[in-house]
Amino acid sequence: MKRALVLFHSRTGTTATYGEEIAGELIQNGVDARALPLYKASNSELADADTLFIGCWTSGLLFFMQHPEKDFINYLDKISDLSNKKIVLFTTYKILTGSMFRSMSRHLPGTPEISRVRMRSRTGRLSKDDKGRIHILAAL
Ligand SMILES: Cc1cc2nc3c(=O)[nH]c(=O)nc-3n(C[C@H](O)[C@H](O)[C@H](O)COP(=O)(O)O)c2cc1C
Repeated sequence: MKRALVLFHSRTGTTATYGEEIAGELIQNGVDARALPLYKASNSELADADTLFIGCWTSGLLFFMQHPEKDFINYLDKISDLSNKKIVLFTTYKILTGSMFRSMSRHLPGTPEISRVRMRSRTGRLSKDDKGRIHILAAL
């Protein structure tokens, strides 16, 4: 991975913290990375990144029906085809992510390569396992 853009959609800040920590850890691993709220990324920043980390807070009925929020879906509907990108999905939650990753994947335009590595956090802080995942992803 050379250049990564970490895009997050956050309501109360937890997913923003997680996105920023992910970008910080990528930088530590030698990747040119930047974290931004979804709508702040320019088309050229999107085009320049080989990998997009895309994250949203988990919205649902706590134990089922988890899905990304409308603003997140609207954003993905508007951006160009992501077919040549690698995507790593992340979310923050309180109890259960359930169908969240499946639902997020469905809204990605085009046919990007979606990593099997998925990242989730209750606190927005990176765990030791998260750091291990980022270390591996950064080397790819
Ligand atoms: C309306 C609403 C629905 C939520 N639904 C779920 C859910 O189904 N499962 C879950 O684990 N957390 C759920 N949460 C908790 C949030 O996903 C969690 O607090 C998240 O970290 C908030 O991220 P943010 O601070 O970036 O907005 C819900 C929160 C809200 C406000």
